[in-house]
This record gives sequence, structure tokens and C-alpha cells, in this order.
Amino acid sequence: MTNINRCWWHDKVAYQIYPKSFLDTNGDGIGDLRGIISKLDYLKALGIDIIWLSPIYKSPFVDQGYDIADYYAIAEEFGTMDEFDELLREAKKRDMAIIMDLVINHCSDKHEWFQKALADPDGEYADYFYFRKGKDGKAPNNLRSYFGGSIWEPVPGTDKYYLHMFAKEQPDLNWENPVLRRKLFDMVNWWLEKGLAGFRIDAIINIKKDLAFPNFEPDGPDGLAWCWKMVDSVDGVGTFLKELKDETFRKYDAFTVGEVFNMKEDELNAFIGEDGYFSTMFDFSAHLLIGGGHGWYEAPELDFDAWRSTVIASQLETEAVGFKANIIENHDEPRGTSRYLPPFARTPAGIKMLGTVSLLLRGIPFIFQGQEIGMTNAVWNSVDEFNDINTKDQIKMAREAGLSEAEALVACSRMSRDNARTPVQWSDEVNAGFTTGTPWLKVNDNYKTVNVAAQEKEPDSVLHFYRRLVALRKSEAYREVFTYGRFEPVYTDKDNIMAYYRRTEEQRVLVVANFGKTATELELEGDVKRVLLSNRVAEEGANSASPVIIDGRLTLESCEVAVLDI
Ligand code: GLC
Ligand code: CA
Repeated sequence: MTNINRCWWHDKVAYQIYPKSFLDTNGDGIGDLRGIISKLDYLKALGIDIIWLSPIYKSPFVDQGYDIADYYAIAEEFGTMDEFDELLREAKKRDMAIIMDLVINHCSDKHEWFQKALADPDGEYADYFYFRKGKDGKAPNNLRSYFGGSIWEPVPGTDKYYLHMFAKEQPDLNWENPVLRRKLFDMVNWWLEKGLAGFRIDAIINIKKDLAFPNFEPDGPDGLAWCWKMVDSVDGVGTFLKELKDETFRKYDAFTVGEVFNMKEDELNAFIGEDGYFSTMFDFSAHLLIGGGHGWYEAPELDFDAWRSTVIASQLETEAVGFKANIIENHDEPRGTSRYLPPFARTPAGIKMLGTVSLLLRGIPFIFQGQEIGMTNAVWNSVDEFNDINTKDQIKMAREAGLSEAEALVACSRMSRDNARTPVQWSDEVNAGFTTGTPWLKVNDNYKTVNVAAQEKEPDSVLHFYRRLVALRKSEAYREVFTYGRFEPVYTDKDNIMAYYRRTEEQRVLVVANFGKTATELELEGDVKRVLLSNRVAEEGANSASPVIIDGRLTLESCEVAVLDI
């Protein structure tokens, strides 16, 4: 990739907002657009260029807005279209771009299209969805939805079923229907016309179905098989994705990031190469290591070596093709701190180390709200504290697999999507300063110590460190190497060390971190020209702390990270 065509988004840093939990300004316990507008300066100070908003469209919120009832309307809970336009203007003033979630594999069962389809199951709107006759008095096939249970739900008053890969309140849209596709493209263009910079594209791999709807080998006691097995076995999603791009994004030079699982191995170039369907897609390779076979109750602990080699392999594979988007957490995952760091490392030092290693990888960094202050998983005292539909289903699956309620609680506490969805901790005031009302989801108990206001005052805080980290990535002197520099792993034979160079013809930067419990020493491969970043905490009176380098040997304490121009 030496002669890569440069794109406006290559050197940007992105931030994901989960609006419901970001900041509530009217006391109803739900975050809102006004809250987001009021924090644009905070995000600017963090160095953010692109803001991704999880869905803010009108929705019954069965799956927290990933069930859209009207693609052209803002959810009342969040505000008005005028406020959204204001957000666009205010972001633009600060040279920041807004992207929205694009949820077009499915819509809400409350969407007008689905209501019309139900009213006339043989009519034009039924063909916006997958309405199919059952087989032998049973569902058309034996696939299990991502949220549990069959992907087929009976259409009342008929012998038909409709397909839903997610909840039954999220009927899948029929991409085979050109009329439906045209409506979706028009909608996408409507938002881009408004000045939106692009989209994060939800669950998009699922839009292609195997229209024969065959049965699959059952993989659970329910006699069903996971629906992604159909996704794995069917070809042709690319035709839809190319059309989507040509009809919409391409015309606006939009930035798009795909949520893509189950892509075929040889398709990376088609997805994110120079003329790919998307600008970029999330790198979920590390997350997949710890997903759990039959359910979250089987999710293994992270194995450091497996994690390191997975990240390295993904970096090397991707740099030959394009850019991936790097994350340690999002609204569907537990907090990165709780997942990628062993318990002894869940400290400010460890959190800074993980952030550094992740943000300086080649690719587009996405920071999830609260990550910049080191928010962690919450302690869940009872299954009733969960709100997430997926978590509720996983508890059920764990129970069915024989776990007691207490065991299911422990298993799902580690993995619950609600860990990322607890309100942002702005201060040590009531409800962490998130709301004056009752928060829709409980606040993490650690807000008294982990919050933005406290970290603002503390020069060595995780928040200030993240600001320095993002600033380094975007600095005039190092922007080029962190954006376009090659990725080169190093010290892979050393236990618990995650290290890599980023390099161009002119520059070489070493990022090196000690994930181990004890200090270690490394022989440096060159003279250090400058220390660019260190998470050592300055001694009283000193302005900054530096890593210890004696005679070309670097000593790294447990959880220490250093970034060196070498
Ligand atoms: C994506 C979203 C997730 C949602 C699902 C269905 O995976 O990130 O939150 O539940 O799609 O839309
Ligand atoms: Ca509110």
C-alpha cells in the first residue's frame, strides 16, 4: 500500500456516543441531543474528529433504537429534528463530522411498512419483508435468531411466518425487492444531503439470505442452529453492497464503517480495499476470541498470547488492503478495561497502557464514551438490574444449559451489553451528574472515584493521558507515521510484551507495553531520539516522568507503556 490514495478520513479519530446514556439535560433519565451539543467542546478537547451516534431515530426501543419505526424522524426521547440540525451546525463549526447508525437489515415491527404488511399479508408491503409459508406445520427452517428462539415468527391469521435475525420486533427487510432498496437509498441520501458525513452500518452482512431457507445441523438443545451459519454459507451480499455504495455514499464522499461479522476470507479487498463497499470496518478479531461458543456462559478468559497474535495478524493482513477501525469496546461489548486487562492491571496505569496500544495501531481509532476516563464493567446484583434484551436471552440460555440463577448472573455480568450502557460518569454528584431524575439504567457504583470532573483536576488522570495520546497521534510531526506508517511487530518472543513499530521511510516509532505482573527489561534496537509518551506518573515536583533507559536497555514496570521515536 505505498501509493495509496489519500482520503479525508484516514487520519481522523472517532468517538462513539450511545445517546441514551450520554447526558440528560431535562431530567427524564434519558440522555438527549442537548446533552450531546453541550459536550462538543469536551469532545473537541479530547481531539475527536468524527462522532458516531448510535440510533436516534423514532423507535419503540425494544433493542434500544436498533429497531427503527421511522427513518426520517428523531426519537422524542432524544429531542427534535431542529436540535439535530443544530448539532450538525455546531459540530461543523468545530470542524467535527457527525455520522449516524444505519440500521437497514431490519426495521421495527411498528414501522409503517410492517404494519401495512401485516394488514395485507399477500400485498405489496409483505414483499418488503420475508413472509414465507411454514413446512409441515413448522417454521420454514430451524435457524436460531441472534437473540435466541427461532428466526421465524407466525404472521397472525395466516399460515405464514416472517423472518427476524434479531428480536421478533425487528423484522428483516427484503433486499431482493428493488422497490424497497430504492426507498432505503433515497433515505440514506436524504440524510447525506442534510450534511451528515456518513454512517456506521449495522449488522449489514445479514442482508443476503439463502432463499431456499434450508435446515442446518442443530447446534443446541433447542434443535436450532445459529442463523449466522446461513450468512456463512450464502454468497452474493457484495452485489447489494456495491449498489448501496454506488447509489449513495460514493456520490457524497461519505465515511462509512461497517459492522461486519462472518465475512468470507477472500473478501477483505472487496469490503475495504481502494474501491471497497465501505471506507472501513471494525476489527472484531480480538473480541471473537472471547465470545463464548453456545453462549456467554461459555465465554473464556482472555489469553494474552492469543490476543497478541490475533491483533498482529489482523494488522498485517489489513495494511495490505486498507484500514480497519480499532476498538476495545462499544455498546455491544463489556468494557475493554474489564475484558482485556487481568484484574491486577485494572488500574489507571493499565488503562492508559491498553488505550495506547489500541489507539496507535494502524487504522481508525474509535473511542467509546467513558473509555477516556477508564469506565469499567458494573457490579450487577441481580438479573433484574439488566435492561438489555440480549442479556435477558443469554441468562435464559445459561439457565437452560443448567446454570443456577447465581451462576448465570456471574456469567452474564462479565459479558452483558449493559456494562457499556451505564450512564457516563461526569462527576461525583447524584447519578454521576448524568441526570437529575432517575437514570434509565443504573449508574456504575464506582462513579465517586471514576468521573470526568475529578479527572479534569488531576494532570496524571486517564482523561488527560487520553488527550495527550490523541494529540500525539494527530501531531504535525507524527501524524504521517501513525496514519500511514507500516505496522511491524517486535519482541514477540517476550512474555507479556505487546510491542510494535510504526514506520515510514523517514520515521520509526516504537510502542511497547508490559502486560505482565513484574518488571522486565528489553534491549532497544536503536537510539531513542525522543520519548513521545509514557504512563509513568511524575514524582512530586517534576513535570513529567520518563521511562528508564540505561545503556540501550529499557526497563518496563508492570503495566508500563512507552512510545519512543527511535
Ligand atoms: C448490531 C448492533 C446491536 C443491535 C443489533 C441489531 O449488532 O450493534 O446493538 O442489537 O445490531 O440491530
Ligand atoms: Ca433527557
